[in-house]
Amino acid sequence: MSRHQNATALKLAAVLLLAAAAAPASEARVISRINHRYLFDISAACKATTNPKLCESVSAQASSARALADAVIIAAAAKAKEAQALSAKLMNAPGTDKMLKQSLDICRENFESAADSLQEASGNLKVPSQHADLMDNLSAAVSFVETCNDAFVEQPGLVSPVAHMYENMRKWTSDCLDLASELK
Ligand SMILES: *[C@@H]1O[C@H](CO)[C@@H](O)[C@H](O)[C@H]1NC(C)=O
Repeated sequence: MSRHQNATALKLAAVLLLAAAAAPASEARVISRINHRYLFDISAACKATTNPKLCESVSAQASSARALADAVIIAAAAKAKEAQALSAKLMNAPGTDKMLKQSLDICRENFESAADSLQEASGNLKVPSQHADLMDNLSAAVSFVETCNDAFVEQPGLVSPVAHMYENMRKWTSDCLDLASELK
C-alpha cells in the first residue's frame, strides 16, 4: 500500500468512526424530520387547500407559507401557459371549424391572461402590503379560466377539446387562492 493510499484509508476510517459516534442513521433521519416540521409543515399547509395533492406535488422545500404559495402560483402560471399553447395549437389545426376556432381562441387568450395575472400575483406576494392586489390578481386568474369554460357552455353541441386543461386550471387557481388567503 502506498503512503497516499494509506492516508486515504485512515481518513476514511476516521470519517466512519466520527459518523458512527455522532448519531446512528435512523436517529439522524428523525432529527431532520423534526427540524423540517419545526420549520414548516407543507403537508399540513396543503391540507387547507381544495386540492391538497396538487398543492403537495409542487414543492418539497418551501420553508414558509409565503414560499409555498409562491411555488404553487408559479407552477399554476406554467400550467396556464401550457393550456394557452394547446388551445392555440388546436385552434390552428387544419380542419378545425369556425365555431370551434372561435371558442378555442377565447380559451387561448384567457389562459394567457390567467398566466399574466398569476405572474403579477407572484410579484404581489413579495410585498406584504400588496395583499389586496394579490387577491385581486388571483381572483382575476380564476375569472379568466372560467371564461374559457363559458366559451363552450354557451355553445351547446360544441365539445371542448381543452376541458381537461380547464378543469386542471380550476384546481390550480383555487389552491392559489386558498394559500394566499391564509397569509393575512
Ligand atoms: C395586480 O397586481 C398589480 C401590481 O403587480 C396591480 O397593479 C393590480 O392592480 C393588481 N390587480 C389586478 C386585478 O390586476
